Amino acid sequence: MNAPRRDWVVPLGLAVLATAALAVNQGSAPDGWVILAVAWIWAIRAAVRAHRYARVLADNVTLLFETVERWAGGDLSARVYLDADDPLDALAHGMNRVAEVLAERTRDLTEDKERLEAIVGSMANGILIVDRALYVTLINRAAQLIFRLGDQEVVGRHVLEVIRATAIENALQQVTRNGTPVVVEWAPDPNEDTLIECSMAPVGQPGGGYGAVLVARDITLQRRTDRMRADFVANVSHELQTPLTTIIGFTEALVDDVPPPPDQARRFLELIHSEAVRLSRLVDDLLALSRLEHHSVPVRREPVDLRALADQVALQMTTRAAAAGLSLTTAGPAGVRVWGDPDLLKEVLLNLVSNAIQYTPAGGRVTVTTSLAGGYGRWEVEDTGIGIPAADLPRIFERFYRVDKDRSRRSGGTGLGLAIVKHILELLDGRVFVQSEPGRGSRFTVELPAVQESG
Ligand SMILES: Nc1ncnc2c1ncn2[C@@H]1O[C@H](COP(=O)(O)OP(=O)(O)O)[C@@H](O)[C@H]1O
Ligand SMILES: [Mg+2]
Repeated sequence: MNAPRRDWVVPLGLAVLATAALAVNQGSAPDGWVILAVAWIWAIRAAVRAHRYARVLADNVTLLFETVERWAGGDLSARVYLDADDPLDALAHGMNRVAEVLAERTRDLTEDKERLEAIVGSMANGILIVDRALYVTLINRAAQLIFRLGDQEVVGRHVLEVIRATAIENALQQVTRNGTPVVVEWAPDPNEDTLIECSMAPVGQPGGGYGAVLVARDITLQRRTDRMRADFVANVSHELQTPLTTIIGFTEALVDDVPPPPDQARRFLELIHSEAVRLSRLVDDLLALSRLEHHSVPVRREPVDLRALADQVALQMTTRAAAAGLSLTTAGPAGVRVWGDPDLLKEVLLNLVSNAIQYTPAGGRVTVTTSLAGGYGRWEVEDTGIGIPAADLPRIFERFYRVDKDRSRRSGGTGLGLAIVKHILELLDGRVFVQSEPGRGSRFTVELPAVQESG
């Protein structure tokens, strides 16, 4: 529809002319009346057209306005189409194009946001972001877990209300105030040894100032390992120190300006020798443990006959048992076979039997019984010895843990035997456990997956 431009000019001119002619001729000019009538009709038509045009224009403006409203409401798919000859058509086209660009940008932004959310969500470290006033703006799954928030909605809440830890709040305040990073370690529960490391860094805010991003990491295991390693080094040093001190002391006495009498010198040499032997055994055990831990020896998996191996070990240990005044016997059926490494399993049994001999007073009995039950082959190494107090039972498989340090040392123990046994069984998918009664004796049970005999 074309805009009615100056449609009223011509009829107005005509009407003026006709009125003038009629006035001159005092109303007796018939042509004047005709012209006046035509002018009036013309003018009325022009007025009607102008009115109709204004209405259409108003309707189209409303249409444009409604479309803009829909965009503002988030519906960027809305489009506006007008007649091609409408003067607002160009505007409508332009608006549609803007909407398209906007929709595309929004799509890109949404994709970026989703990607970011997926990354943050799948991170093992906890992420928590707060604004300048320490209100939470983002938190990931890991942080919900680390801070034990369950499925609580925390976005929009103050950090202190979410994590009830003033240490963290103070640190965040420092970060947002100074714009510098801060790291704190936080123990969520004084009754546990759980330790969380919170690294906080500033993030610029749109309105100026700093918010903060907090990265939380559970360092409990790492700390525990560090402590264990430090304890282990301290233990090893201590274990090495004792025999070395003896060796140094006696060698010094031997090379003294005034040498000891020959029989005493011989006694010194014997002591030096026995301490050196102990050192060598300690080093052997340490190497064995380290090899087991680092899987540096290939572990074989083959059928091993438990009874046959028990007989072999018993034979090897008879002299020692006899020297200690003990009877050493084996029992149980032959042919119980388990999947394992014969060398490692022999090591297990040697350790258990030598402990049984070591901790059983003369006159006692040591038996190794083989059995098969529930898909598992078993050895039970039983003695009638001194037994182990209930309080010590859970710890005897730890490295260097000994109920009676002096007794263990006197009998040549290193404190590593049971740690080695436990390690080997873990490697072979087996297990070892102990029952004991102080003064009556102990029973160590070893279980391994049996070979399923076909047919
Ligand atoms: N058969 C047993 N009877 C009593 N105590 C035992 C027996 N076996 C192990 N123990 C206790 O467990 C500790 C750890 O054993 P082990 O690791 O073999 O080290 P050790 O070198 O002292 O024998 C021993 O010092 C001892 O206190
Ligand atoms: Mg031992």
